[in-house]
Parts: sequence; structure tokens; C-alpha cells
Amino acid sequence: MTEQGATMDAPARTETAKPHLPDAQTVTQVTHWTDRLFSFRVTRPQSLRFRSGEFVMIGLLGDNGKPLLRAYSIASPAWDEELEFYSIKVPDGPLTSKLQHIQPGDEIILRPKPVGTLVHDALLPGKRLWFLATGTGLAPFASLMREPETYEKYDQVIMMHTCREVAELEYGRQLVESLKDDPLIGELVGDKLRYYPTTTRETFHQMGRVTDNLTSGKVFADLGLPKMNPAEDRAMVCGSLAFNVDVKKILEDFGLTEGANSDPQQFVVEKAFVGDGI
Ligand code: FAD
Ligand code: A2P
Repeated sequence: MTEQGATMDAPARTETAKPHLPDAQTVTQVTHWTDRLFSFRVTRPQSLRFRSGEFVMIGLLGDNGKPLLRAYSIASPAWDEELEFYSIKVPDGPLTSKLQHIQPGDEIILRPKPVGTLVHDALLPGKRLWFLATGTGLAPFASLMREPETYEKYDQVIMMHTCREVAELEYGRQLVESLKDDPLIGELVGDKLRYYPTTTRETFHQMGRVTDNLTSGKVFADLGLPKMNPAEDRAMVCGSLAFNVDVKKILEDFGLTEGANSDPQQFVVEKAFVGDGI
């Protein structure tokens, strides 16, 4: 009998070896990309519906026995049977110092309440869609690059992703590479997707910050595209706060207006993480 007065015929709780997490999902796959980056897949709650590009709260039980949750973009598309996440490993980070050790079969907590601004509904129709990301800001675009609606709505899709070092681009590179032969979406993607990865601190065949490659016009020249303009171009932005602020200014200088779920316009922005000193 509990304080809430459970009825006598309520089913008895089964004792298990592990504590049962609230909103638990089971890890099915883990891939470590660098000593700072990993991705993992978990089972998907049957009732979870989300729009490609949205984020949810996920986590583990903290040392105090309470859920320790953080926002995470869902990196898999809305049609996928499982959920994928692409994660940083912050040394001493309350969540990721533990999360980086998960193995297939382990459980994580996943609150099934997806939200976010990086969704197709928040943009007016256009000809080209630009995904602009640094670091783990790629995650929502890993979802949207695998979303059929992306290619149904736009003639061209450009994925600009910048990291300090080449190895940090690998998750995105393999994902883009795999799209060509994907039985579900490969044909739809066709040659619509243009991938423009760059590094800033290690030699690579393409270099430079997203911001510099936009303002100098280098990316337009390299891809044979016209300068970004509000009649044709739409953009989604996800990086550090400093990156987002700088890109927003550049997009506004090109004449684009920021939108939201409640007010679709020409570009949308979301933070890839909180707290980079600004
Ligand atoms: P925290 O205490 O949360 O962070 C400690 C410090 O680490 C921060 O102050 C910051 O300086 C740095 N940091 C945190 N996250 C990152 C990051 N992703 N990249 C670089 N530096 C970082 N993180 C992901 O790894 N993948 C995602 O898909 C993702 N999606 C997010 C979506 C939203 C809307 C927001 C607001 C955040 C998202 N984050 C994502 C960040 C995530 O919520 C956590 O901050 C991250 O998992 C680290 O958690 P922590 O408890 O270990 O450290
Ligand atoms: P840079 O090496 O020139 O600082 P970080 O690892 O610090 O989050 O940065 C990830 C990538 O984003 C790096 O390539 C970094 O370039 C770039 N970057 C950081 N801040 C900005 C910004 N304000 N505008 C454009 N790119 C940025």
C-alpha cells in the first residue's frame, strides 16, 4: 500500500537488476568518431512523432538519482524506425562525461516531446535550401538531409559544415556519401545535394569559416551558384552562439528575414549548444 492508496489488485512491480529509468529507451549502436565526437542509435518510442530537424531532451540518471537531461537534435529522419544522435564529449561535462561510455543494451532517458525551429514549416517556399553548421550543429541537418520533403520542396540543397579538423567532418561525410545508394531516399536526392565541408585549423582541400566563404562569395563561385538572395534562397543555421550571431547578420545583409514556426520567413536559427562565453 502506498501513500497514494494503490488498490489491492494493482500489479506488483517486478524487481530487476538495473534501476528502471523513466522514459527509457535502449541503445542499439554506438560509433566513436574522434576523442570528442560520437554518435549512437536508440529504440524509438512507438508513440513518438517528430518533424525532421527537431530536438528532444535526453539523458541518464545523475548521481543524485534524478534525471540529468540535455537538449539533443534528433539526427535521424522522421521516417526512421530508430532514433540517432550525434554528440560531443565534454571532458567533465555532467552528462557527456557519462554518456560517452554507453554501450548497446544500455538504457537512456528520452523525453518524447520534440520541439525546434529548424523545420520546413518555418520557411517560405524557395528554390535553394542552405544548411549552415559548425561542429555538432550538423545533427539536425543529418536528419533533414535524409528527409524526403527536403528534396520535394527544393531544387538544390547545400550543406556547409565547418570544423577545426578533418576527422571532425567524418560523420557528415559518410552520411552524405551513403545517401547516393540509400534505397529509400537515394533517387530523390539525386544530384540535388551539394556538400561543402571545410576546416579551419587543419589543411584540407576546402578551407575557411562558413561566414568567410559566404561573405567572400567563394562558396557561390565554387558551386556555380548565384549570390544568396531572398527570392530564391532559404537557410537553416545551427552552431555556437557566436557562429549563429555572425551568420544571421550575413543572411540579413543578403536580404533574408528570420522566421519561426509561427511566422515562416527565409531563414531560421537554432543553437547547437549553450554557453560558449557570450
Ligand atoms: P554541459 O554542462 O551541457 O556543457 C558544458 C560546456 O560544454 C558548455 O558550456 C559548452 O561550452 C560546451 N558544449 C556543450 N555542448 C557542446 C557541443 N555540442 N559542441 C561543442 N561544445 C559544447 N549537443 C550535442 O552534442 N549534440 C546535439 O545534437 C545537441 N543538440 C542541442 C540542441 C539544442 C537546442 C541545445 C540547446 C543544445 C544541444 N546540444 C547538443 C548541447 C547539449 O544539450 C549539451 O550541452 C551537451 O550534451 C553537453 O552536455 P554536458 O552535460 O556534458 O555539458
Ligand atoms: P575557427 O577555427 O576559425 O575558430 P569550435 O570548435 O570552436 O566550436 O569551432 C567549430 C568551427 O566553427 C571552427 O572551424 C571555427 O573556426 C568555427 N567558428 C567558430 N566561431 C565562429 C564564428 N563566429 N563564425 C564562423 N565560424 C566560427
